[in-house]
Amino acid sequence: METLYGFAELASHMIRQRIVVAPWLTWGQGQNRIPRRLQEEIERVALGLANGHWNPTWEFCLVERYPLEKDRAWEAYYETISSTAVYLSHLELGQLEVTEEMVRVAERLVEDFAETVSPQRFVSFYMLTIVYDNLQVLDHYGSMAVDDFLQGQFHRPWATATLQRELRATMAAGGIELSPAEGRVQLTALGKEVLHSLKEMLTSSGFLRHRARLIRMNNFNILEDMDLITETLGKNIPQLRKRVIELGQIQPGMTVLELGCGTGGLTFDAGLFEVVGPNGRLVATDPSTGVLAALRRKREAYQASWVEVQRARAERLPWPADSFDRVLGYAFLQFTDLEQACSEIARVLKPGGIFASLHPLHFPAQSDFFLEWFEPLIKAKPLSGNLDTLPGPDTVPAVLGARFEILDLQYVDTELLYSFPSLVVKAFVDVANVFEEPMMYLPWRAREAMIDQLIKKGEEIVRKYPAHKLVEQHPCQLIRARVRK
Ligand SMILES: C[S@@+](CC[C@H](N)C(=O)[O-])C[C@H]1O[C@@H](n2cnc3c(N)ncnc32)[C@H](O)[C@@H]1O
Repeated sequence: METLYGFAELASHMIRQRIVVAPWLTWGQGQNRIPRRLQEEIERVALGLANGHWNPTWEFCLVERYPLEKDRAWEAYYETISSTAVYLSHLELGQLEVTEEMVRVAERLVEDFAETVSPQRFVSFYMLTIVYDNLQVLDHYGSMAVDDFLQGQFHRPWATATLQRELRATMAAGGIELSPAEGRVQLTALGKEVLHSLKEMLTSSGFLRHRARLIRMNNFNILEDMDLITETLGKNIPQLRKRVIELGQIQPGMTVLELGCGTGGLTFDAGLFEVVGPNGRLVATDPSTGVLAALRRKREAYQASWVEVQRARAERLPWPADSFDRVLGYAFLQFTDLEQACSEIARVLKPGGIFASLHPLHFPAQSDFFLEWFEPLIKAKPLSGNLDTLPGPDTVPAVLGARFEILDLQYVDTELLYSFPSLVVKAFVDVANVFEEPMMYLPWRAREAMIDQLIKKGEEIVRKYPAHKLVEQHPCQLIRARVRK
């Protein structure tokens, strides 16, 4: 669609600027995560920006030209600043609670961005994301009761007003029509065509993928039972963690950095802290403050004062170059931006320093029980050809190869136990969001419904298959690499 020209580029630019349009991020347990006082400040700033930028000649162009009202500009600024503030709080502080400072940074980023791309185009892009959500929900459900659409419960529960005006406008534009069933609406052929173009633009720009990744960020941050999940699902995880420590060839007294340490499975449970010893320095890091609190409790219990706990994302490490003899991690690399993470790991390693990681590879997706259980996701046939976002055997070596010499590459299996459906679905589908692609086109409520449906299906599977059949060998890659500097 010609009128979408240039918006994919705008969306990618927006992601690079760390600006997000994901209003649901501001929601946690059905409540706004942003304290009332800061919400009011954002409202005020959004109003100031809308008043300063908007003028009556503004138009939004999709199929036809429509006047772009001032309150749309307000909404675009308000929702973008709010969700960006939550996102930045996670990136910078590892928490979803928004601080005043992050609100200020978000306000400045959004204002600068809007001025760079033109405020009218910024607001138009926001409108395109709304039209996408409105059309996508109808495409997904086929038709919807008018009231459900208006309340936005299935696709935009965070909307502050009813979607009356949006419904009217989209009907007037010919994208939505009344369905033959009473009181319901559905997409028209034109609506489907517009949806197709929007989906293409929002996919190719990386917007939908980025929005889906935010779900993982959100869920890791509020995850409280990581130990329970790993202990229950992975039978041989303790042994595999030990393999990572061996692979690292650590000498007592070394300076070691652990990335994605979670609640301390490698640091404490597998004994990394003892291998490094009190004459060394072990820095355990993770981006989520929730898991770090549990890690600190373990440090107290073990009285391991040489273990430092610090919040950090692998993509941006807060240490100078040449700081560590070793960088290690168990099952974290698959969640990072590989290029950025590998470049940061290379930077903080001392010359000749070694990086060791164990990361899972694609789900084998071969056992009868697995194919039957996850059929709704498999059926969605992701465009990338991969059901999950995990790396293939060549992915990590190829990226690492640019800065590292690969010294050792081994393959081992994690024995995953599928007998606890709600834990399995929570761990893989919801929290880790590894089936991101088949899930990413689902409207908000449909994503939640899919999770429930998969848990129910899993309960059937557990009744149907004998327990010994519900174990799958999940391939993992172990890698040891020496930095080239
Ligand atoms: C499967 S858990 C593994 C935890 C721990 N290594 C263990 O052995 O139990 C993955 C961890 O990676 C962390 N993680 C997610 N994104 C990350 C990133 N960009 N950089 C570093 N760690 C990340 C998560 O917060 C989570 O704690």
